[in-house]
Amino acid sequence: MEKVSVLAPATVANMVCGFDILGFALEEPNDSMTVRIIKERKIEIINRDDFDLPTVAKKNVAGVALLAMLEKIDENIGFEIETTKKIKPGSGIGSSAASAAGAVVAANHLLDKRFTELDLIEFAMSGEELASGSKHADNVAPCVLGGVTLVRSNDPLDVIKLDFPELFVTIVHPQIEVKTSDAREILKQQILLKNAIRQWGNIAGLVAGLMKKDYELISRSLEDRIIEPTRSILIPKFDQIKTESKQAGALGGGISGSGPSIFMLSQTEETAQKVEGVMRQNYQNIELDFNTYVTKINSNGVTIV
Ligand code: HSE
Repeated sequence: MEKVSVLAPATVANMVCGFDILGFALEEPNDSMTVRIIKERKIEIINRDDFDLPTVAKKNVAGVALLAMLEKIDENIGFEIETTKKIKPGSGIGSSAASAAGAVVAANHLLDKRFTELDLIEFAMSGEELASGSKHADNVAPCVLGGVTLVRSNDPLDVIKLDFPELFVTIVHPQIEVKTSDAREILKQQILLKNAIRQWGNIAGLVAGLMKKDYELISRSLEDRIIEPTRSILIPKFDQIKTESKQAGALGGGISGSGPSIFMLSQTEETAQKVEGVMRQNYQNIELDFNTYVTKINSNGVTIV
């Protein structure tokens, strides 16, 4: 096999209470990528979209992820990667993770799957480090594995795939830019014990709720006392959208990754569409451009097409 094409899904990191440890993959949107093996030890990057991302491997998240993989390969080979991104960089729905994870999953397929999924997540984390200054796995893990994932530990990497009930996801991406590195910079480095206790209660509650398919428990656990109060001020209409989405029937939600996208979970598609209406109305009222998606959790992660 000389080339392989993949679809790499958008992802929602943090899942409200699980900063840097929880995340899930989305059915829409996806980036398309084609990877070829070349007979030279280098990474060639071709961008087929309008995002003007770097084509120098060391400055490109997919390039850096493939370079991390190449370090573990003895043969005199390299990769050419051709990308058409649909996930806008800086949107908060895992654009860099899709580039990094899609590239390494495709390359691994060309190598007869010599690396484990955990290896691929590690390689992709190097791309995340380039994008945000931090080696977090809460986007790349669900992007590679699909579904909902829990990163129990970054070092050594320990990732658990969680069961989950049927859930519909509504996303709104207001067209403002929030850099992940900036959104991390503003976070407090110390937290109160009482907030930590509340937060780990919510994380455990959310994991239990997902596995027991207990929608009420999921809803109660979608609460963040630590990150959201600091970051939500960067997102216009955040509090109003959250309150009105819950009034429309959403189970709950919050900032997607480091923002500016907001996500809400619903038990039915009908509710998810009502929530989309709430989001639209709020941004139309202040004449802010936005995109919305009504989608589901993607169980498969990066797929070969
Ligand atoms: N967990 C990361 C953060 C995700 O919230 O900074 C960034 O996509």
